Order: sequence, then structure tokens, then C-alpha cells
Amino acid sequence: ALERTLSIIKPDAVAKNVIGEIYSRFEKAGLKVVAAKMKHLSRREAEGFYAVHRERPFFAALVDFMISGPVMIQALEGDNAVLKHRDLMGATDPKKAAPGTIRADFADSIDANAVHGSDAIETAKVEIAYFFAETELCPR
Ligand code: CMP
Repeated sequence: ALERTLSIIKPDAVAKNVIGEIYSRFEKAGLKVVAAKMKHLSRREAEGFYAVHRERPFFAALVDFMISGPVMIQALEGDNAVLKHRDLMGATDPKKAAPGTIRADFADSIDANAVHGSDAIETAKVEIAYFFAETELCPR
């Protein structure tokens, strides 16, 4: 089914100058960018985005990392977009990510793991709305 998912290229991958290489993987897999913005997140924005992880031991380090530099945020649209995007990313921990995935190729650690992607359709709706107004989405 046609779905949308939220993708974030994290500060480590933006600093490595691989936004284009990562976009290229999305496009080759049939995912279309329907909204995008580069942003240096405030602490409040990062904490709000990752609110479900607030009680986890890695929360503070995660927020510190996510505000360490600009991120590239996009809504992707395509058939089976949520799972397709997760397959392209690979496992959260790059040491466990399959060869050829974005995290295997560009990530250094479980914290600096290059990309974020929504884990389910319902989460995707919430995450897309967190960063984009309905009028900023360009279905195509
Ligand atoms: P992300 O998909 O952005 O969602 C939460 C992030 O927390 C995750 O990617 C990792 O970068 C980071 N993180 C750090 N430690 C862990 C952990 N033990 N389990 C899951 N996520 C972790």
C-alpha cells in the first residue's frame, strides 16, 4: 500500500556530506521525497521528538547527539514505505546492520547511526506531523 514515513539524516551523516548518497538510495528503492527541510534542532525539539525514549538510559546522550549539528528531515512516500525505509537503513546498531545498508556503510556507533526512520505507520503519522504542516507535504 502507498505509505509515508519520516526519515532523518542525523548530524554524523550530514557532517560526512552524504545527504545525496542517502537520497540516492531512497530514490533507487522507489521512495519519493514529498517534503524536506534542513534544521539544527533545539534541545526542546529533540526531546519532544524522542519523548517515547525519555526513560531510557541513552536518552540524554541521544538528545545531545541530535542537537550537535544540523539534520536533514524528509517525508518519504512509496509502496510499503515504512518497511522499505527500515530495510534500507539496516539495524539500529551499525555493528549488526547488514552489508550494503545505510548504517553499515555510513554509521559509526549506535548513537551516531546516520539515520532515523519511523518504526510503524501510526508512528510515521505522528513523526511527520511533528516536523511538517499538512500544506508542506507535496504528494506526487
Ligand atoms: P533512532 O532510530 O533514531 O531511535 C532512537 C535512537 O536512540 C536510535 O536510533 C539510536 O541512535 C539511539 N540509541 C542509543 N542506544 C540505544 C539502544 N540501546 N537501543 C536503541 N536505540 C539506542
